[in-house]
Amino acid sequence: MNGHKEFQKRRTALLKKIHPQALVIIPTAPIAMRNGEYEYPFRPNSDFYYLTGFEEPEAIAVLAPKRAEGAFILFNRPRHREKEIWEGPRAGQAGARKLYGANQAFSIEEFAEKLPNLLIGRKEIYCLLGINPRFDEILFAAANKVRGRIRNGLSYPGALIDIGDLLHEMRLIKSTSEIKTMRKAAEIAAAAHVRAMKACKPGIPEYQLEAELLYEFQRNGARYPAYTSIVGSGANSCILHYNANNQIIRNGSLVLIDAGAEYHYYASDITRTFPANGKFSPEQRAVYNVVLEAQLAVIKIIKAGLPWEKMHETALRVLTKGLVGLGLLRGNVNELLAKQAYLPFYMHRTGHWLGLDVHDVGHYAIQGKWRKLQAGMVLTVEPGIYISSELKNVPARWHNIGVRIEDDVLVTSKGCEVLSRKVPKTVAEIEALMA
Ligand code: GLY
Ligand code: MN
Ligand code: MN
Repeated sequence: MNGHKEFQKRRTALLKKIHPQALVIIPTAPIAMRNGEYEYPFRPNSDFYYLTGFEEPEAIAVLAPKRAEGAFILFNRPRHREKEIWEGPRAGQAGARKLYGANQAFSIEEFAEKLPNLLIGRKEIYCLLGINPRFDEILFAAANKVRGRIRNGLSYPGALIDIGDLLHEMRLIKSTSEIKTMRKAAEIAAAAHVRAMKACKPGIPEYQLEAELLYEFQRNGARYPAYTSIVGSGANSCILHYNANNQIIRNGSLVLIDAGAEYHYYASDITRTFPANGKFSPEQRAVYNVVLEAQLAVIKIIKAGLPWEKMHETALRVLTKGLVGLGLLRGNVNELLAKQAYLPFYMHRTGHWLGLDVHDVGHYAIQGKWRKLQAGMVLTVEPGIYISSELKNVPARWHNIGVRIEDDVLVTSKGCEVLSRKVPKTVAEIEALMA
């Protein structure tokens, strides 16, 4: 990200969308305790980060249009000599102005006291409720306090509006620098998947492949995964959000890895499925090729203008046809689609927006109509087939075959760019890599 200029541009763009007498207040994420005195690694709230670039905990951004002192106020931690010896440097209020472009900065300790005055004379407040309970409490208390002072002729905001509609629409269309970062996040994850495939052999526990993924993420500067990696072998390949990752990978089983790196807070989200011993069995190959055909069919139609639901419909049609071809469904494809006969095998949707959040923000439908893709959107394409051993009417030779293939795709005006294309995807490519 090129300094604070891009963040500044975003704030300016947001301010243009709101009433000059509105106020935007966005807190970062709260600190979460892991155990005793130890915290989970801190990650800023994505909306807050998108507007500020500020990475320290305990901070709140306020945007107040038409304010004499400038619109951007940051409340953040004050410098603290002793704490900085233990925890590292803080930007402090001077840093907030100099490094992050705040027009004014105050200690976070002053937020509750300063907030009522910021509310006075404003018509509406845009905020993010439910992210940080302490913040919600302070905001409600301040609103109440200001309401108690209307006898003095003051006016106070009559509306509390979720910022999502405005801000999340901005986040949905990625800038050039965001795309660059997301390309890198996908490349790192792609390298990690290749590493895990190469390291796989029957007899090792699933967590050893998770370790390979994390190693590749971290050595490339992606300190954390974008979500807990899924390494599911055998029956676990059919558990959609499996992440115990503690079973032995058996010869003859499939391994499904769903793992993405977080790079500069941007997520990648990739799934590959491969045979533990490097060779697909005939049943595994047959199922795999149906999922691959569905995934390629969806990627092929992606370009600006395509209605969101077309992708899911395309996947459903290819998967249903494929399941009929495998003998796992019987009947007419249109009728099977109409009665959702695929549901025992395919129970999730075909993709989601991707960005600062793995399941990124932005509406999928507007006024009840699926929206059309636009250049600059990034999404996943992730069809699958999961044949659980619970499906008693399916012959046992198909059981415990769970296949998902997931790529990260940037929509362009003419088509798309598969950001995660560097992981092998065809049966031949995977077998060659693992040989
Ligand atoms: N890794 C979560 C998902 O694929 O949506
Ligand atoms: Mn995934
Ligand atoms: Mn996904």
